[in-house]
Amino acid sequence: MMHVRLGVNIDHVATIRNARGGAYPDPARAAIVALEAGADGITAHLREDRRHISDADIDTLASMLRERDRPLNLEMAVTQEMFDIALRHRPHAVCLVPERREERTTEGGLDVVGGHNWITPMVAKLRDAGSRVSLFIAADPAQIEAAHHTGAAVVELHTGAFCDAIREGRADDAASVLNALRAGARQAHALGLEVHAGHGIDYETVAPVAAIPEVVELNIGHFLIGEAIFVGLAHAVGEMRRRIDAARAP
Ligand code: PXP
Repeated sequence: MMHVRLGVNIDHVATIRNARGGAYPDPARAAIVALEAGADGITAHLREDRRHISDADIDTLASMLRERDRPLNLEMAVTQEMFDIALRHRPHAVCLVPERREERTTEGGLDVVGGHNWITPMVAKLRDAGSRVSLFIAADPAQIEAAHHTGAAVVELHTGAFCDAIREGRADDAASVLNALRAGARQAHALGLEVHAGHGIDYETVAPVAAIPEVVELNIGHFLIGEAIFVGLAHAVGEMRRRIDAARAP
């Protein structure tokens, strides 16, 4: 069985902490629990407005994960400020995402077609610094082709529209978005890109995405932190791990 890596996004542990402005609960502690429960790596999004993860969190996570020899996947907007932070830390992976201040979460994929001229040099510098660069994009043929031309090693396909369609009972939409994800994964893989997927995934939506043969990593956050309220983080991560493995079992 091919092992699909699970990256646990711990942003929303910081959201809860920041609701009171103190130090509890600590995202680094959540990262350790997630790794012990079956996560392969930790994902964190340092947003420009610092609404959840802080610069100090990234300092702590980067050194803690380096000590444990586990990957940090730093999600960030394509800005000079974020770029300087990434070059300082040289995380295992950097995932470039679109960011708009008024959005509640990362609503769409990066426009690599439109931003090709400024994304490409960023990709090269991050890659030269030793990070694996991933572009968070919709499963759109033109975006995948453009991602390939930037020299990025990885694309992360946005699963939000698929997950929303399932949750809202729009079966036809879900089927067509899933087909687009499958075709996008095939296209990206054929171009030599590593394929990741993420956004909005929960227990109900994980299996069809994990079953896409070209997908080698899933990044999951909000649902796991929410579910942790009811069953604990270790249990939630363990159950997600089990479902991913089952979806990929021969
Ligand atoms: N992948 C990327 C690139 C993201 O921006 C996010 C959200 O920060 C996720 C995965 C995780 O999404 P969710 O929190 O909905 O599981």
